[in-house]
Amino acid sequence: MVVINSSIAEESVSEDTIEQRVHALLGQMTLAEKIGQMSQVNVGDSYIHDYLADGIRSGRVGSVLNVVDVAVTNELQRIAIEESRLGIPLVVGRDVIHGFKTVMPIPLGQAATWNPIIVREGARVAAREAATTGVNWTFAPMIDVSRDPRWGRIAESLGEDPYLASVLGVAMVEGFQGEDLSAADTIAACAKHFAGYGAAESGRDYATTNIPENELRNVYLPPFKAAVDAGVTTLMTSFSDVDGVPATANRFLLRQVLRDEWGFEGFVVSDWDSIRQLQIHGLTADDRESAFEAVVAGVDMEMHGDAYTNNLAKLLEDGRIDLDLIDDAVARILRVKFELGLFERPYTDPVALPPIANDEALATAKQAALQSVVMLTNEHHVLPLEVRKLGSIALIGPLADAPYEQLGTWIFDGDPQYSVTPLEAIRRLVGDETELTYLRALKTSRSRDTAAFDEAVANANAADAVILFLGEESILSGEAHSRADISLPGAQAELVKRIRQTGKPVVAVILAGRPLTLSNIVDHVDAILFAWHPGTMGGPAIADILFGVESPSGKLPATFPRMVGQIPIYYSQKNTGKPPSPDTVVHIDDIDPHAPQLSTGMSAFHLDAGYTPLFPFGHGLSYAYFDYQDIRASASEIRLGESIRISVDVTNTSDIAADEIVQLYIRDLVGNVTRPVRELKGFKRVHLAPGQQITVDFQLHTDDLAFYGRDNTLITEPGDFHAWIGGSSAADLRTGFRVLASD
Ligand code: NOJ
Repeated sequence: MVVINSSIAEESVSEDTIEQRVHALLGQMTLAEKIGQMSQVNVGDSYIHDYLADGIRSGRVGSVLNVVDVAVTNELQRIAIEESRLGIPLVVGRDVIHGFKTVMPIPLGQAATWNPIIVREGARVAAREAATTGVNWTFAPMIDVSRDPRWGRIAESLGEDPYLASVLGVAMVEGFQGEDLSAADTIAACAKHFAGYGAAESGRDYATTNIPENELRNVYLPPFKAAVDAGVTTLMTSFSDVDGVPATANRFLLRQVLRDEWGFEGFVVSDWDSIRQLQIHGLTADDRESAFEAVVAGVDMEMHGDAYTNNLAKLLEDGRIDLDLIDDAVARILRVKFELGLFERPYTDPVALPPIANDEALATAKQAALQSVVMLTNEHHVLPLEVRKLGSIALIGPLADAPYEQLGTWIFDGDPQYSVTPLEAIRRLVGDETELTYLRALKTSRSRDTAAFDEAVANANAADAVILFLGEESILSGEAHSRADISLPGAQAELVKRIRQTGKPVVAVILAGRPLTLSNIVDHVDAILFAWHPGTMGGPAIADILFGVESPSGKLPATFPRMVGQIPIYYSQKNTGKPPSPDTVVHIDDIDPHAPQLSTGMSAFHLDAGYTPLFPFGHGLSYAYFDYQDIRASASEIRLGESIRISVDVTNTSDIAADEIVQLYIRDLVGNVTRPVRELKGFKRVHLAPGQQITVDFQLHTDDLAFYGRDNTLITEPGDFHAWIGGSSAADLRTGFRVLASD
């Protein structure tokens, strides 16, 4: 039975709209209580210390984070409801990024599924599990477009493309928030980090970002706009400096774009202490100025910091800010609390919610992992492995049996006891028919100690096939875990070469938090399955793919460079005035010593890396073969405001049933500002039986072709467009159409 203050109780039984209730409550609040709503306090391990309890009791705390003990969250809510003057419940935040106890693949891995349905379901599972603890707000999804795999937080992102990140970001928001935010098993989402965090210089976390407004609007902001349109309740600012004004003080982003242009009605939370960090950035001289900058910009709640608590009243008293500014922030926070149904249902009854890590949750985690695995190469069809033909298999590597590492970064609550490792799953799958040997060979992925390599080689020699489990531990990606060299760390490449010398078929399964540079191993293995950090059920998913129970179907959500010096390298680059082509490129080793000037073309490439990536965006092989034919547009010309249909016939020419992700790219040939050489505009995951042919259609409205032009307003222009459909961003089946001015 929920006990609430009488004033609130009367309101909650009335038919008042949320707006009326917010207004009425605001009218009863003192300034201190208002500022309290704008303050979020970290609970962490200290649980209910006096400062926290007193703070909640006196209305000085509106939100807490980092508490997942339901007895504690209920007690904190009780203090807020029963002992504070107005009985306003707390919004309880936690980083539930890719699962709670049941862990889905890292978000970048989920992006490799290109499947909004499974991504939504993964977030539903996470919300349900987190809700059992009294958490009612997650700091996810992270929808920072990220084109730099050195950046540790690319793991948390949905990749390099604004369209893919928009579709999947919306799916996550829908999954967390459900259809009814006030239901017991839904939680508020938080689109972060607004904005541009993914463009940190050289991928160094927290580093400065410099993004021209046009690129900001065309590339970095669309996922946030999509999340706002989908009803995301909160946004978090970025730690980063955006073109000289840190995001937490950025009026252009938080007021002009988010509120004035997009009409966002939820609230904005700072990142962890990022208001006080404005001083460290060198934007302000002290906390008071930091509070001023942040509140004027539109940061409604301060996460873990006391710049607001200590300074907002004084800023008001000095006439530096208006009460309206505070009222607006508080109204936004209260609105979300009402929408969450916290006034009616502040307490959590975990027993009324589904149990943690139940069969359904584990099945979702397995499906997500299955669909996220990308087969990068498969020479001589070494995969799938056939159990019946293999008397013995050697499993070698530091990540075959690492229950914690396979969960990836940002798993505060993820529980490795539920993890099924590849070793365990393969043992189960092959049963007694095949002999398995397992050797870790390297203590960690970073280890340089090669002492066990002779034994690894002996195991390989004694086996019919070798599966190497390589990659990065979870500690190598995530917040503040950027790398400058993104090749396989430690002595792993050497291990690959030693095993290669045995002449046995070698499959590499790579678990990692980012795209890696694989140039030094790609030719030394017969197949590569890139499994990201696949989460709780990574093992069974990998085993099913290795042995052909399922075909791989993931596609890359980010380009894989050949070498670090190519970064940033992404498919939707601009053409430049001197685009490279096979005719204009020469490799450094091929420069003619007698006529060096003549042997190199004048175009945009690297002498030692060319201009192509190792694996392009959208790439991913299958055990099936898909033949794309007859791309066509429903019209050769359409007018602005009309739609066109682009279609293709896809045939599964193999005898294996499998999923394929059919991708549509367009190019706007001439624009008011230069446009990318390709832009993803649609994708569909389809399932084809052996021999089956289907037609896949994409409907494009001219609004889908809109972009921000020279004056940074959204425009659609008449002109010629190319369209490609295929299985990656390198698709070559092309058609075209013309957009004419409206009548
Ligand atoms: C800092 C991170 O940047 C942010 O993403 C996270 O939600 C907060 N810390 C809270 O843990």
